Amino acid sequence: IPVDSFDLVIFGGTGDLARRKILPGLFRRFASGQMPDEGHIIGAARSEMNSDEFRTMVKEAIEEFDPKSAKDTENLGKFLDRVFYVAVDANGDGGWKELGELLRPDMIRAFYFSVAPSLFGSIAERLKTFELADDEARIVVEKPFGKDLQSARALNKSLAEHFLESQIYRIDHYLGKETVQNLMAVRFGNMLFEPLWNSQYVDHIQITVAETVGVGGRGSYYDTSGAMRDMVQNHLMQLLCLIAMEPPAKFDPDAVRDEKLKVIRALDPVEPHHIVRGQYTASETTASYREDVENPRSFTESFVAMRCAISNWRWAGTPFYLRTGKRMKARTSEIAVVFKDAPHSIFGAEAGVHRNVLSIRLQPNEGMTLGVTIKEPGPGGMRLIDVPLDMTFAEALGPDAEEVPDAYERLIMDVIRGNQTLFMRGDEVEAAWAWTDPLIEGWTRRNDVPKPYDTGSTGPDDALMLMHRDGRRWREIKE
Ligand code: BG6
Repeated sequence: IPVDSFDLVIFGGTGDLARRKILPGLFRRFASGQMPDEGHIIGAARSEMNSDEFRTMVKEAIEEFDPKSAKDTENLGKFLDRVFYVAVDANGDGGWKELGELLRPDMIRAFYFSVAPSLFGSIAERLKTFELADDEARIVVEKPFGKDLQSARALNKSLAEHFLESQIYRIDHYLGKETVQNLMAVRFGNMLFEPLWNSQYVDHIQITVAETVGVGGRGSYYDTSGAMRDMVQNHLMQLLCLIAMEPPAKFDPDAVRDEKLKVIRALDPVEPHHIVRGQYTASETTASYREDVENPRSFTESFVAMRCAISNWRWAGTPFYLRTGKRMKARTSEIAVVFKDAPHSIFGAEAGVHRNVLSIRLQPNEGMTLGVTIKEPGPGGMRLIDVPLDMTFAEALGPDAEEVPDAYERLIMDVIRGNQTLFMRGDEVEAAWAWTDPLIEGWTRRNDVPKPYDTGSTGPDDALMLMHRDGRRWREIKE
């Protein structure tokens, strides 16, 4: 179903994120018929160029970052007809009047701030001064949304001076991933799981977001951020919230976000001995973290593993183990809900004991499997084995399954639809910083040195110990 007609202005329209994700994503939505003919995309950035030059840039970006979709040259031509450009000075008054002339009355207006957060305030202010945005307009902002509680509050405040919370769409692209939404469908659309979804039946939960890439190219940003700010405060925290939250009364933006916020607020502070920080070393073919960020004395972590606890009735006693890192063994993101052992084995110890594990894979091969214990087929007596009940979408839905849209394209369409469910509310972001700040401050105060780990490994050995101490083990990291 096509969304309503819109004018989408992308500040930072010539930047990396726009070229890599936003513009190819919009094109895919256009080619699939979801973007209406009257949808216009207006790039706005500092560089002087005309719309034709911008169209060439957009075409090249789509060809580079989504060569498969770019083969549809007929649609690509039509899409480019809907693309415009205006040079705008985010910190000055140049170009704003011209931008206003490109905007059409009675259209949904969305402004995507794909720029450094230091520009959020001045862009928001000028949108109002030049009367380009009324109370129906939407603004979209990207992470990093601050680097601590204080800076996040300042950003929220500067946006709130000009826009209502209902107009602000804070992107966490993990919320746009197919499986993340399916997690809610599985939890709240089935009778099967929710009664067991608590500390009485769940032994522990593991969330792993492992990447094989390093930080080369983004070193100057990353070295002031680290895995905690870059991944845990936002992406892992959001996954944790969705897995742990109470059922909202309805699938409505504030009902969902209220429940997520309660989870963050119920998180206990993490003890220092429940966190392991790591930094990758060089391999034969790749540089070390310190070489990548060009800081030979960097104490920033490229890996973090931790044991968290949620102090509420549902989860008291069930630990949540989180880990994420760069340059690890494989690219994989998984949430695993590990259920407790059956209370008594009627088959005797020799039959073997298997635990039910619900594995929710975000990428690659998105889908879910539930490990179930059955009898090993054959005449060998009662031996138990673990088999996966596979809910991998591609297989279950067959060749007719629609191609899964990328997180960005889904989220941008939600902005146009005016649906904030998959976006972070200001108080959520602040609560997440309030939880991470003391951990980061503790490391700085103690001059904490991250443990080295091999490129292509599962992280430092101490991360394995974090689990072993509790008599548990991490799930294998594999694609
Ligand atoms: C970004 C982080 O938000 O997410 C990056 O800044 C990280 O460091 C990326 O690589 C991971 O996203 P995805 O979708 O590739 O898992």
